[in-house]
Amino acid sequence: MKINKKSPLPIYYQIQEMIRGKLESGEWPPGYMLPSERIFAEEFDVSRMTVRQAVTELVSEQLLTREKGKGTFVAEPKIEQMLQGLTSFTEDMKARGMKASSELQLFQMEEADVATARLLQLKGGSVYRMERLRLADNKPMALENSYLHAEMFPGLGEEAASGSIYKRLEQDYGITIGSADQSLEASLASEREAELLGIVPGAPVLLISRTTYTADGEPFEHVISSYRGDRYKFRIHMPR
Ligand code: GLP
Repeated sequence: MKINKKSPLPIYYQIQEMIRGKLESGEWPPGYMLPSERIFAEEFDVSRMTVRQAVTELVSEQLLTREKGKGTFVAEPKIEQMLQGLTSFTEDMKARGMKASSELQLFQMEEADVATARLLQLKGGSVYRMERLRLADNKPMALENSYLHAEMFPGLGEEAASGSIYKRLEQDYGITIGSADQSLEASLASEREAELLGIVPGAPVLLISRTTYTADGEPFEHVISSYRGDRYKFRIHMPR
């Protein structure tokens, strides 16, 4: 690795290009820990400030991540998700050759609050509330809080939460999932979300709120999910 100090290109820029080259070639794969600033600076015979400048820009481009007390790492690539098409988390990950799994945080039957009761058009008032950490290839991606229409799914047990809930509801309760209304907004991870998602409190998350209907138009779930902002990117095709 050579730096040309006579070049009109700034030194920090040359270091950055060298790092970009290693990322593009795969020589430094996702999760790879970069040499420390000190080692970098010694190797190139430049100041640590210059190295820091190069790295900081790549961190803000989300190509690298800094972990407090640990070091700087090559970031995992973002998952790109189309916004059209009603799919489940399990299906989304499978389509990418990744394995979906869940860590159940909470499963209980409870009285729905007014907003959820309205969204689910509840008569009885009860919902199953299920909080799941969703993982792809064992890495946390999203924290989902689901409220399911309890009367529609009698006897639903907590084991239903371990796999695909959509598959379970379709197979065991015979529903056909028809459509969903979804909104997406920016938010910041709370302490708890951050701990579960493996990010720092206040890191950006995408808050996705979905109400899902059967093919007959009956709402059966309302889900509020926090997706890691550093791992997800949503795309939509917009014909005019
Ligand atoms: C996505 C949606 C959720 C939905 C879930 C079902 O993650 N954001 O609203 O409940 O998929 O996924 P699965 O069937 O894998 O449990």
